[in-house]
Amino acid sequence: MAIEIIPVPDLGGADKVDVIEVCVEPGDVIEAEQSLVVLESDKASMEIPSPKAGKVISLKVKEGDSLSEGDAILELELEGEASSESDDAPAVESTAEAEETAVAADAEEQAPAAPAGATSQQLVPVPDLGGSDSVEVIELCVAVGDEVAEGDSLVVLESDKASMEIPSPAAGKILEIKLAEGDKVSEGADLVLLEVTGSAPAAQPASEQQSASEQQPAAAQKPAPAAQPAPKPAPAAISTATDSRESAAGVYAGPSVRKLARQLGVDLNKLKPSGPRGRFMKDDVRSYVKQLVADVNSGKVSGGSGIPAIPEVDFSQFGDIEMVKMSKIAKLTAANMSRSWLNVPHVTQFDDADITEMEAFRKSMKAEADKRGVKLTPLPFLLKAAAAALEAEPSFNVSLHADGEHIVKKNYIHIGVAVDTPAGLMVPVIRDVNKKGLWELAAESAEIAAKARDGKLMPRDMQGGCFTISSLGAIGGNGFTPIVNAPEVAIMGVSKAQMKPVWNGAEFIPRNMLPLSVSYDHRAINGADCGRFFTYMVAVLSDIRKLLL
Ligand code: COA
Repeated sequence: MAIEIIPVPDLGGADKVDVIEVCVEPGDVIEAEQSLVVLESDKASMEIPSPKAGKVISLKVKEGDSLSEGDAILELELEGEASSESDDAPAVESTAEAEETAVAADAEEQAPAAPAGATSQQLVPVPDLGGSDSVEVIELCVAVGDEVAEGDSLVVLESDKASMEIPSPAAGKILEIKLAEGDKVSEGADLVLLEVTGSAPAAQPASEQQSASEQQPAAAQKPAPAAQPAPKPAPAAISTATDSRESAAGVYAGPSVRKLARQLGVDLNKLKPSGPRGRFMKDDVRSYVKQLVADVNSGKVSGGSGIPAIPEVDFSQFGDIEMVKMSKIAKLTAANMSRSWLNVPHVTQFDDADITEMEAFRKSMKAEADKRGVKLTPLPFLLKAAAAALEAEPSFNVSLHADGEHIVKKNYIHIGVAVDTPAGLMVPVIRDVNKKGLWELAAESAEIAAKARDGKLMPRDMQGGCFTISSLGAIGGNGFTPIVNAPEVAIMGVSKAQMKPVWNGAEFIPRNMLPLSVSYDHRAINGADCGRFFTYMVAVLSDIRKLLL
């Protein structure tokens, strides 16, 4: 068995070409013509086939390397050949073929330059396609009116073996596009009409150039292809063995699309191609990035969190389904919840408040409440108790400053109340709760809840909260873990009060127990702070006379 170093073949004039994919690994047994690496210049991607069959001993390249002709790709143990044979064999069989198929490299000579500042029109034809005929236009890279620099891609053509970008022979402005995506073209076909400015190379002898004012019908201007400054070789034609859509990564995309994807850090494997025959288009990359940015902005995904998205599932495969549009509030709530859940390290503490006396007092006030036209529910008592606890434990009445260096201490006590509405969850804020009495709070909470349900809240009504109360008491449940309504740092969850047997040291006595939970942002609040806050609040609710102290 002979060992041979497989070098980079003639790259059609390209130099320092990036390795974007290594298709084999040491130990792989490969066939002749099997792709070894995919190289990509700014004009073309090319798969380099193995000239021989054998076993890969070691790799001499890795992704990201830049290679030129002659650089070693890998060490190959040849299959059933003596080393002398391999020495004689050309390192890459397709080199001659490549030269044949590469696009007229030697036609790079430039015609006389136009005088600086003068404009002329140049009809750019399809260059020598290395023998290919009827090649499909798969992408137009320019639009009428675009300014292009010399070498900018005009179109991407694709045969069944390679894709090639046809560069502009000169800088100028696109006046007309002579073909459309999907057209089949051959050498000499009109590509674009270019208005060339200044000393750019002319496409035809200077004597045949015309100024814009002397424009003749396009057909009359068509220069002989030989006079064209032909584009640089399309090295993709080197690889005649593998269809570009069958790269190891399974990605079927032209060089410009790959380049755009690389520049934007997009992994093409994550996209769905929209082009013909499953080909990726630049717009696929752009739409993907646009969607990603929109998702981050809307909070659907957390920027940079690296949390994998929940895969999309086609539920219709399991049964009948119905698609219901989310309300604006539901979408905002989803975004806010995700933001808070992902950003805030939550801790939730639970306790029961003995509200037997409070309920007795509340019920005793029913006649008075009716007289005032107000419904006195447990909510105003909870608001008062929370305000008292916020005053007693000011570490709860803060927000973390965005600079990461400060805590914002608030000298006011505004409390939000979560209200369930047909349009979704809303959190109107009651201001200066500590300065208001139970009747005032009862009236105000009923008023804001009604406003919320009628969709009459203004944005300001929902701003400025220091703390939130989320009460499911009228509905049920033993306890839940509410999500902090950031930038607030704590929230209280209220569940359904129930009569429970409570040991008083001598006997079990029936007491009305209210299950409460407090979730807090552990960046701002310590467990001990929460212990003090919660104990105080439970004590206040158990004996509302403490509110007078
Ligand atoms: N335990 C037992 N009963 C309770 C209770 C509790 N914790 N809280 C309220 N109740 C009772 C009330 O006393 C009232 O009974 P009554 O008519 O016999 O006096 C009944 O439940 C209905 O109260 P409600 O009208 O809901 O008033 P409220 O002041 O308690 O609540 C809102 C007002 C706005 C909080 C409430 O209507 C609401 O929208 N709750 C849902 C909030 C929500 O969805 N939170 C989840 C966020 S994730």
